[in-house]
Amino acid sequence: MRLALLAIPAVRSALSLELGRQIEYHATIGSTQDRARELAAAGSSSALVVADEQTAGRGTKGRVWEAPAGTSLLASWLFRPAPADAALFVLVAAVAMARALERLGVRDARLKWPNDVVLDRRKVAGALAHATTDGQVGSLVLGIGVNVHQRAEDFSAELRATATSLAIAGHQVDRLSLLVALTRELDRVTAAGEPPAALDEWRRRATLLGRTVEVVRDGRPPLRGIARDVAPDGALVVGTERVLAGEVRILA
Ligand code: BTN
Repeated sequence: MRLALLAIPAVRSALSLELGRQIEYHATIGSTQDRARELAAAGSSSALVVADEQTAGRGTKGRVWEAPAGTSLLASWLFRPAPADAALFVLVAAVAMARALERLGVRDARLKWPNDVVLDRRKVAGALAHATTDGQVGSLVLGIGVNVHQRAEDFSAELRATATSLAIAGHQVDRLSLLVALTRELDRVTAAGEPPAALDEWRRRATLLGRTVEVVRDGRPPLRGIARDVAPDGALVVGTERVLAGEVRILA
């Protein structure tokens, strides 16, 4: 099934019903994340915004998320109430991504703190979470980008060494099936009691734990030490320090 089938109202409403949330599909949009945040600000309780192409896709740390039209799964889910703090939820979402990929035959996905899914040591997917603090319960918008059909030449020279796609890794995955599997796994990890179990799975799939790493943090000297664990709030424990944000690379 092709993702563009979502442009057909009857297909969209059937899937919206099946997935229990209103689906918005855009052939082209600035950013699904910005659109889902608009829906959150307007008071929507749950929504799923999907696009075939983004002209201003957002990555973490203010970076741009690049994906040629038709190559990727680009989607943002609105959760209300927020299922967890954003810092924890990106880890839990990464577990959902790995589980969804496994359902579609991709068994070797590993996770790099905080929000990367890695295949063959290269990033294949990333997640971004924005929380709102309005009202009593607040909401959380989770954006996920999965590189599905890219060939090596579709990545910029800068990304080629660190990024991959499911196709490059030898997996032919349909984006609509991935969207459905991912939504189901996200709903499963947000169910009561799941976050601690998901963190255990995160640990099993982690690339960094037990390795000597360097963490680059804004305005602070680099931190070197052994990545020992993830804390219940999603922080990475390096040596005796808790890291909540930063760029991590493996030294040994
Ligand atoms: C990262 O930098 O690893 C996070 C990338 C998140 C990208 C996705 S693509 C769909 C959604 N819309 C955006 O603008 N960003 C997220």
